Amino acid sequence: MASASIQVSDLVKTYPRGVRALDGLTFTVREGTVFGLLGPNGAGKSTAVRILSTLSRQDTGTAVVAGYDVSRQPDAVRREIGLVGQKLSAVPTATVRENVLLQGRMYGLKGRELATRADEAIARIGLSDAAGKPIGFCSGGMKRRVDIAMGIVHRPKVLFLDEPTTGLDPDIRMQLWDDLAKLVRADGLTILLTTHYLEEADTLADEVAIMDSGRVVTSGSPATLKQELRGDTLLVELDTDEAAGQATALLADVGQVGEFKVDGRTLHARAEVGGAAVPAVLERLSGAGLRVTSVTVSQPTLDDVYLQHTGHRLVAQRREETELERSQS
Ligand SMILES: Nc1ncnc2c1ncn2[C@@H]1O[C@H](COP(=O)(O)OP(=O)(O)O)[C@@H](O)[C@H]1O
Ligand SMILES: [Mg+2]
Repeated sequence: MASASIQVSDLVKTYPRGVRALDGLTFTVREGTVFGLLGPNGAGKSTAVRILSTLSRQDTGTAVVAGYDVSRQPDAVRREIGLVGQKLSAVPTATVRENVLLQGRMYGLKGRELATRADEAIARIGLSDAAGKPIGFCSGGMKRRVDIAMGIVHRPKVLFLDEPTTGLDPDIRMQLWDDLAKLVRADGLTILLTTHYLEEADTLADEVAIMDSGRVVTSGSPATLKQELRGDTLLVELDTDEAAGQATALLADVGQVGEFKVDGRTLHARAEVGGAAVPAVLERLSGAGLRVTSVTVSQPTLDDVYLQHTGHRLVAQRREETELERSQS
């Protein structure tokens, strides 16, 4: 098993006016893996990233990054990390390559090594063809890539990406996922990314922690989360085997349910939100004169898990935010 690259224990951070942004945040990231910190706006994701990248200090608790304590050895931590913040940071009047060179110089790189590292970073995030382009002429997706190239030019051990794809069009977002995935596999880089997109965490992360109100509410591998994401199982029990067989055809166009399987008197189906599908299912079946003896909804979605822990929905909020982002762009 790979050793821990980031170890966060019981971090607490309170901002002036009493906002408790982190409230006992605890998680571990294994070396050479992608870790997704997933949560809604205000969950404390950026605060966590700022503390781990030594830009901010926790009130209590400890964090070790690449073997160094963030409060006691901040300079050592800084040498080992790259940070891509939520806001774009490249100079608009300079070219892609000039921006990456500038960043490399800030890390003390010089001469031939600087040029080699800059070109390597640009190539690794798929920007070689655009190296001479001024940032002002780059698309949103390209600007994000420039930020990432700037974040890896000094070959950090750990890269922090705070909401790397927020505000990007879905297709650009997916392209960036591909490039990020390659980046990790290339040379054992550890990535901590924050996101409020379930799919993003699911696609990129080896391990995910869902955050709310400054703490981890649940965590696990994407495989586990995927299972939880597949929606609910709906078990509809009818009074005869024959009725169960008829039910499949009747429910085919209800829309909210699918993947039917009949087992005796029981019809198994999948629904995105089981509870919401039940009324339509019942209406259709009883309307056709079938007798339903019971309906069971099982296996909560990740969002249901989230709801259970926090009292609100991540998916609903995320949809609203996506719409907001679209209307703003
Ligand atoms: N500089 C700050 N001063 C006061 N409150 C802040 C500051 N930065 C963040 N907060 C508050 O801390 C909470 C967590 O914020 P943040 O870490 O930005 O969450 P996220 O990145 O998950 O959206 C929010 O309630 C936010 O309003
Ligand atoms: Mg944030």
